[in-house]
Amino acid sequence: MGTDHVRLIQRRALLSASAGAALLGLVHPSPSQANQSYRITVAPGQAPLTGPQRRATDVWTYGGSVPGPTLRVRQGEPVSIVVENGLDQDTTVHWHGIRLPIGMDGVPGISQPPIRSGGKFVYEFTPPDAGTFWYHPHANTLQQLGRGLAGALIVEERSPVPVDRELLWTIMDWRLRPDGQIAGGFGNRMEAAMSGRIGNTVTINGVVPADEPVRSGERLRIRLINAALARIMALRFEGHRPVVVAIDGQPCDPHEPNDGRLLLGPAMRVDIVLDMQGKAGQHYQVVDDYDEDLQYSLVRLAYDAAPPVRMHPLDAPIRLLRNPVPEPDLASAERRQLVLQGGMMGGGMMGMGTAAWAINGMSMTGDGHAGMAAVATLELGRSYVLSLRNDTAWSHPMHLHGHSFRVLSRNGVPVPFNQWADTVLVEPKQTVDVAFVADNPGDWMLHCHVTDHQMAGLMAVLRIGNMGKG
Ligand code: C2O
Ligand code: CU
Ligand code: CU
Repeated sequence: MGTDHVRLIQRRALLSASAGAALLGLVHPSPSQANQSYRITVAPGQAPLTGPQRRATDVWTYGGSVPGPTLRVRQGEPVSIVVENGLDQDTTVHWHGIRLPIGMDGVPGISQPPIRSGGKFVYEFTPPDAGTFWYHPHANTLQQLGRGLAGALIVEERSPVPVDRELLWTIMDWRLRPDGQIAGGFGNRMEAAMSGRIGNTVTINGVVPADEPVRSGERLRIRLINAALARIMALRFEGHRPVVVAIDGQPCDPHEPNDGRLLLGPAMRVDIVLDMQGKAGQHYQVVDDYDEDLQYSLVRLAYDAAPPVRMHPLDAPIRLLRNPVPEPDLASAERRQLVLQGGMMGGGMMGMGTAAWAINGMSMTGDGHAGMAAVATLELGRSYVLSLRNDTAWSHPMHLHGHSFRVLSRNGVPVPFNQWADTVLVEPKQTVDVAFVADNPGDWMLHCHVTDHQMAGLMAVLRIGNMGKG
């Protein structure tokens, strides 16, 4: 069916196009670039974050680059990734958003002993879901992620939507000193109780972006990954209308986002389809205006002077096939409330001892470790609604390991377009209800992905199926 389907699309594109020039714009399915086995060394290195003219920045790398190599794998087929630790400290790798067995989840003390300096670990799993995922350390995370350890993990669809080109934007945020080196001061307590370590330099795929060259009339798929420590983004594509087709790797009903802004908290991903309807030779800004007072232009879409590749937008479906995520049974689901507490409020810190944050009064600090008490124990195979209530004055992108959940409602208002996620932004004074089937046994981290918040206590363990007892 694959090729027939594509042929049909090509015929339709032909019929709807007005001129012979449209022939140029025929879309062929891109051949798979997947590979099922990889070897990655974690090691210090250098990256030209601010461009080739300036001195390179000392960073920590996966495979020598920032971000690390893009791992492309096939859905439903076993993957093996050998990770060698060339840092002078422990590390682990977490495959963010992949529904995999707990032993491969990369949480030190729970999934595995940390990978010692000079040691290695072989990660093996079979990704059940196609989509845009990423990988990062789960050890000394604030520094290791903040010094550059992150990479994209793309699980290819068996039948991708036809587009002219696919782009991947792995966005990272750095705090650089004037000499271009990474500023110290990781884990500042005041920051940890506020917005977290927000940087001063935003990169796409490891460089402060120059223009992104595009062609009038083409259809792009852009995979966006927010790999920042703390920066929440709201991206506006001036003069364009991005259509969201997947969130955190999980397909949704294709839709234009609210006010055309793509909201991306740390660790969140969005896949968009973008028809390049701008004028040949023109430039259009992509602006991050999450904080209206601090808005900046992330990158410019720079149109080629060539005539459009087609006169009308491609007439091809953009809906992705659903992944095999189990549908929660809302009628029988049990409800669990998780209250996010702490941080700097009007008057100062809440009295919480050494931690700055808590979930239901419990503070788990750091990266995850053995012997953490569970905030809730869930029965294997049952459906649950987690009600995430934010009692703090800050926004929290809350992430659950090992599962994807359906986002049901915000402050009781249903969320449209069939949105699933593994990381959901919970704004101050908001309650977000999510639902999922607890089908993956283990002790799973549930934490804020503003890394300072996680480190300072905004983390808990959800125990599924009585694992980890005794
Ligand atoms: Cu991407 Cu525990 O996190
Ligand atoms: Cu994760
Ligand atoms: Cu947070």
